[in-house]
Amino acid sequence: MVLGILKKVWLLLGRIRFDYGIKIFFFDKSICFIAQYMRKLIETTFKDLFQKVPLIVNSPGRINLIGEHTDYNEGFVMPAAIDKKMYVGIAENGLSNARIYSLDFQEEFTFDIRSFSPKKGHWATYIMGVTAQLQQAGYQVKGFDMVFGGDIPVGAGLSSSAALECAAGFALASLFGFDIPRLSLVHYAQKAEHLFAGVQCGIMDQFASVMGKKGHVIRLDCRDLSYEYFPLDLGDYQILLVDTQVKHSLADTAYNRRRNECAEVVLMAQQNLVGVKSLRDLRLKDLDQLKAYINEEVLGRGEFIIEENERVIDTSKALKEGNLKKVGELMYASHEGLSKKYSVSCTELDFLVEMTQPMDYVLGSRMMGGGFGGCTINILKKESVEIFKETITASYADKFKKTPKFYEVNLEEGTSRL
Ligand code: GLA
Repeated sequence: MVLGILKKVWLLLGRIRFDYGIKIFFFDKSICFIAQYMRKLIETTFKDLFQKVPLIVNSPGRINLIGEHTDYNEGFVMPAAIDKKMYVGIAENGLSNARIYSLDFQEEFTFDIRSFSPKKGHWATYIMGVTAQLQQAGYQVKGFDMVFGGDIPVGAGLSSSAALECAAGFALASLFGFDIPRLSLVHYAQKAEHLFAGVQCGIMDQFASVMGKKGHVIRLDCRDLSYEYFPLDLGDYQILLVDTQVKHSLADTAYNRRRNECAEVVLMAQQNLVGVKSLRDLRLKDLDQLKAYINEEVLGRGEFIIEENERVIDTSKALKEGNLKKVGELMYASHEGLSKKYSVSCTELDFLVEMTQPMDYVLGSRMMGGGFGGCTINILKKESVEIFKETITASYADKFKKTPKFYEVNLEEGTSRL
């Protein structure tokens, strides 16, 4: 009885912290506190629901410094895992069912592991998707119980779904002793998104979640998956995300459409040029030859991808030289392209980026992730964070009658056992 009440208070405090962004003293900003809190929460819930002690893993959300929509075009991206994570507790149940409880939705879902199909739009579909991928790869998944939750805001473009897929896959592997290489886990999670959630995403989100390294961004070549870690030493500056509070609900269909438009450019290029496998193989001047066959809008998609790939390479150079000013300029250029040529921004994102332009304490700003809502990523002076928040909040509320949220993020290790 007392335990029950304590758990309710515990859950309620968690919801306040995670849903409304209010900082409660014992949560601090330190990830350790959140991890400890999540461990306790998962263990208590697990005991209540399934009378067992679970094994617990976590997998982070991600930011992307630069290189947007390039991943599914065999291009370059520069993401990093962050200190906002999905936590999954798991234990065997000796049944042929998977019983899953979502802490965020406070809802249970059961499926028969011998026969199941996607449940699009439902949170359980990500876990079902990964389970299916492991089974297809020959891993004998037995009945399991699972409790999960975390502090990655949903629909904010921080890849909470990829984090859930990766955490669930890693939890299953850890529980049943499957020896799955990290890169295979990345592929299974991506395939789960394709086949169960119905989004033809690239590989960036799952790769960043599994492969992240503390204090580093990853420059990933999505053609051959070779990668290099770059320390992100921001000195007096820091990363701050601004959440438009616009959920990218239309994004999935538009996202798949962008993929098709890029494929259209590649197809046309293949009929006119030799040695073209993807947009990665094209230069801007090659597009001139395609003008007669493709409309301007679709050609613009190709143009953006070619330029964005170059920007990632330039960003790597600038980081090596410690030239943060240049990184900032490239971020603004990336946003311009995403908004004008690739058309995946929205009024709110454009407004937030534009607002930062006259602020001399902001080095760079751009929309981040799939687009149509979610967050902007900003690099700004640490000492100016408060004034930045105040200015943005006031103007944004004035224009859109909405309050944006702010997330200060640190770069973290990828998927791991707690
Ligand atoms: C989403 C997808 C990624 C990537 C980004 C855009 O986050 O899941 O694969 O394409 O959009 O860069």
